[in-house]
Amino acid sequence: MTGYFITFEGGEGAGKTSALNIVAQRLTEQGYPITVTREPGGITIAEKIRAIILDREHTEMDARTEALLYAAARRQHLIEKVKPALSEGKIVLCDRFVDSSMAYQGYARGLGIDEIYHINQFAIDQFMPDLTLFFDIEPSVGLARIKRNQERELNRLDLEKIAFHEQVYQGYQILLGKFPNRIKAIDARLELKDVVELAYQRVLDHIR
Ligand code: TYD
Repeated sequence: MTGYFITFEGGEGAGKTSALNIVAQRLTEQGYPITVTREPGGITIAEKIRAIILDREHTEMDARTEALLYAAARRQHLIEKVKPALSEGKIVLCDRFVDSSMAYQGYARGLGIDEIYHINQFAIDQFMPDLTLFFDIEPSVGLARIKRNQERELNRLDLEKIAFHEQVYQGYQILLGKFPNRIKAIDARLELKDVVELAYQRVLDHIR
């Protein structure tokens, strides 16, 4: 028995994490076996790596170091949590995966999408999501949402300038073109309840 690995992607303030939690709750109510997790993190070692990467004081972090730390966290999370859950037949909903590295480190940091895909192979061994939902919203709109949400703590990457987030968005557009069968765009400018409905239907279409 093997489950489904479904990832949620997008820039800051796209609402993907809120949507992921609501979709997970609805699927659970329908009786589907769901595991919710996130990157970087999801397990002890990867959460520790996450704290290093996102620490606002680590302004001196080199872009390649950042890319390698994300890949290291990814490896441990995949082996320790994602794959075991999939072999139990779970539907794993994961907040971010290798597409984030390709968009943020590969495109926005300028390390190259193909190079980042390549270095990540050491961590993931060709293992890719069955389905990826891209929460599509212009960075200026997404960032304005984050600013309004006072409870949210800003991390090192949130603090990047708008030009960086525009680059991340362009990076995701390239990935949509590169992986059209796997990545599906969701219009994240809509109200959260409509965004959730679109995401929920996409997931159901895939697993039915
Ligand atoms: P998080 O607070 O989880 O952000 P969000 O709510 O936007 O998902 O922080 C994760 C940050 O790490 C986010 O800015 C995106 C970035 N990131 C990368 O740059 N590369 C990666 O491979 C991953 C997984 C995340």
